[in-house]
Amino acid sequence: MANEFVLRSLDEIRFWSRIMKEHSLFLRLGFRCEDTQLIHEANYFYHLFEGIEQKSHTFPVDTDPSVIHRFNVEVHTAVSHIWVFKRKILGLILSCKLPGQNNFPLLVDHVSREANYFRNRLEELNQGKLEPLQDAIIDENVFFLKIMADHAKFIGHLLDPSERKLVDQAREFSNDFDQLLFQATDLSSMRPQSQTQPLLSQFLDQNKVSVTSLRDFKQTARDLIEQCRIKSIIHPLLADHVFREANRFLEIIDMFENHLTGACQPMILSH
Ligand SMILES: [Fe+2]
Ligand SMILES: [Fe+2]
Repeated sequence: MANEFVLRSLDEIRFWSRIMKEHSLFLRLGFRCEDTQLIHEANYFYHLFEGIEQKSHTFPVDTDPSVIHRFNVEVHTAVSHIWVFKRKILGLILSCKLPGQNNFPLLVDHVSREANYFRNRLEELNQGKLEPLQDAIIDENVFFLKIMADHAKFIGHLLDPSERKLVDQAREFSNDFDQLLFQATDLSSMRPQSQTQPLLSQFLDQNKVSVTSLRDFKQTARDLIEQCRIKSIIHPLLADHVFREANRFLEIIDMFENHLTGACQPMILSH
């Protein structure tokens, strides 16, 4: 079990610290050149999370759990700070203090939600308790469906308007995921009566189908952007970033499916 705590902590930190590092880059690219203080802060967070990411790859799997416990606290502090930074930027944009900057408010809110998610995961790990499976299935899906719906909207708005077919496809994904998100919140509202094995299993199946096709769409878009075959203002790294987040969601759905069918031990975590 101690080993499980170490493995899970390192897996979360390796994935999300790279994500936080890339958010710092995307935010920086959207600032105006005169926003030197904000650019400086974004660079600070880029290097902070780059350091955390590198450090996370140096721990062997048999590291003493107490060492990882302290590392989780250190990362938690960094994530709290980048969350404050992101919300500050959102406030500046929404009060029109940065006219002409290039980050959508929804994108800034989105990356702050991802930071908040990462922070909660670290807290759960260090407290040695996870939500019961039936609650985790609903809550993780509500979180990630909203993330996927946002991604579809960002892609649709950052593609060149002349890429009409791709913009249409992005809009369809946006509608599809908005609907799935509503379904998820309906299921959530019907708790605990809705938490039956067949309903949760069908919920996962349905979400998995849509996430898989969105993931494939993102992969295609990423490849086309990398090969300079389509017109957009999407940074190639952003295309890859949203592709990786869709894969992460798919891995989580698979993990839930295995637990729900009893293929795995119940999710217990302690250290
Ligand atoms: Fe992200
Ligand atoms: Fe995202």
